[in-house]
Amino acid sequence: MTRSHVPLIERYREHLPFAAEDEIVSLQEGSTPVLRAPVLSEMLGATVRLKLEGANPTGSFKDRGMTCAVTAAVREGAKAVICASTGNTAASAAAYAARAGITCAVIVPEGKIAQGKMAQTLMHGARVISLAGNFDQALTLVRELTDSHPIVLVNSVNEFRIEGQKTAAFELHEDLDGELELLCIPVGNGGNITAYWRGFKEMGAAPRLLGFQAEGAAPLVLGHPVEHPETVASAIRIGNPVRWEDAMAAATESRGSIRAVSDAEILAAYRLLASKEGIFCEPASAASVAGLLKYGTDGASQIVCVLTGRGLKDPETAIANNDGKVIQCVAERGPIEEAVLGDP
Ligand code: F0G
Repeated sequence: MTRSHVPLIERYREHLPFAAEDEIVSLQEGSTPVLRAPVLSEMLGATVRLKLEGANPTGSFKDRGMTCAVTAAVREGAKAVICASTGNTAASAAAYAARAGITCAVIVPEGKIAQGKMAQTLMHGARVISLAGNFDQALTLVRELTDSHPIVLVNSVNEFRIEGQKTAAFELHEDLDGELELLCIPVGNGGNITAYWRGFKEMGAAPRLLGFQAEGAAPLVLGHPVEHPETVASAIRIGNPVRWEDAMAAATESRGSIRAVSDAEILAAYRLLASKEGIFCEPASAASVAGLLKYGTDGASQIVCVLTGRGLKDPETAIANNDGKVIQCVAERGPIEEAVLGDP
């Protein structure tokens, strides 16, 4: 088996809280590519690479944590899992629950989850509850619910999620031979930056971590919760991160920081990645590149930006934010020639 065919828990079992006899729930997640970005490297005068977490089975990094959270839930005899989500956690929980043969419920903020994520979650057979409220309210409600019902919470308050997600740091440490100096990563609930820092520490590595929030949803930058978070990057539309202290600790202990990028900066990076690097990620993911472009390399020469989810997750935002146009044409030779070869 090649490395990419090994379930994440098997690949890193000695660093994860699972035993050889545990029945693993896996969709062959992890072992994602880390790709050089020639255009960004040229722009920044450094070696910039992209960690393509959209290559995971459900199209986002959440699968790393979900294989662990659902494997642990099944080991404990759970019959159901639940999460609040801006979309990706929901899609991942639904897929792994389907694989495990258990039920899944997700609570999502009404009208604020991207179409691709909704499509996945419904196809995997989860019960989808659309809340007249935002993500932070949804999370408060599921936490209350799981206090009084035998349903396992698979949001990143669940330690198994962080354990699984730390493996992305292991992969980067191995793939870059320990040379990584700076990691740029989008921040919503703060689970992923927490997980990367744990993973690097376990490898004895200490790159600087730069976390980026969207300007309209930047509680960690402002230092207080945001009651009505707003951003085009719906995945990180979060006003009160559950991993607040851990995320801040990851930034400060690594001599990094958490800073804000505007929606316009996010969309510019999103378009640049797709049109110049050939990499289509979702808007929240582009916050990592937007932040690097805005604040600079700070002298680092080996840089990785984490692209947390793939572009097809959010077709509406893609279609509304590009310079391309669709040329209508009748089925005849002359007009087709004009359409293909004429002035754009
Ligand atoms: N990027 C994407 C694509 C995400 O879906 C999320 C979070 C983040 C970044 C931020 O990661 O929360 O660990 O700091 N999505 C969650 C969800 C909230 O429900 O899918 P974080």
